Amino acid sequence: MHSGARKRGPGGEVTAREHEDPMNILFTPARIGPVEIKNRIVMPPMTTRTADDEGFVTDDCIAYYLARVRGGTGLITVEMAAPEKAGRPAASSRE
Ligand SMILES: Cc1cc2nc3c(=O)[nH]c(=O)nc-3n(C[C@H](O)[C@H](O)[C@H](O)COP(=O)(O)O)c2cc1C
Repeated sequence: MHSGARKRGPGGEVTAREHEDPMNILFTPARIGPVEIKNRIVMPPMTTRTADDEGFVTDDCIAYYLARVRGGTGLITVEMAAPEKAGRPAASSRE
């Protein structure tokens, strides 16, 4: 039986021992085709609207994703980018 719960610290935090648990694969590398990701934490796309009005990447956009990289996310799915005007969200949903 998996005993990961017993390896939590006094405050319930994840401990180094839990990372070493052979039953816990979350923090182990995975391969997707030719790409290796360092752990199995996958971030789904989430709308930030940090692109500019033309659909280009901004400093805010880069800062947002860099923060998630520095937090240890193994794989990030970026949100939509719509350089073509017809593909952009309706103006009413941007207000
Ligand atoms: C471009 C894009 C933006 C998304 N933005 C959000 C969001 O802001 N908030 C949210 O709850 N889900 C958002 N989603 C949906 C979640 O990513 C999605 O529901 C999640 O990956 C779970 O997948 P599932 O619906 O197939 O279970 C977005 C999806 C896409 C494709």
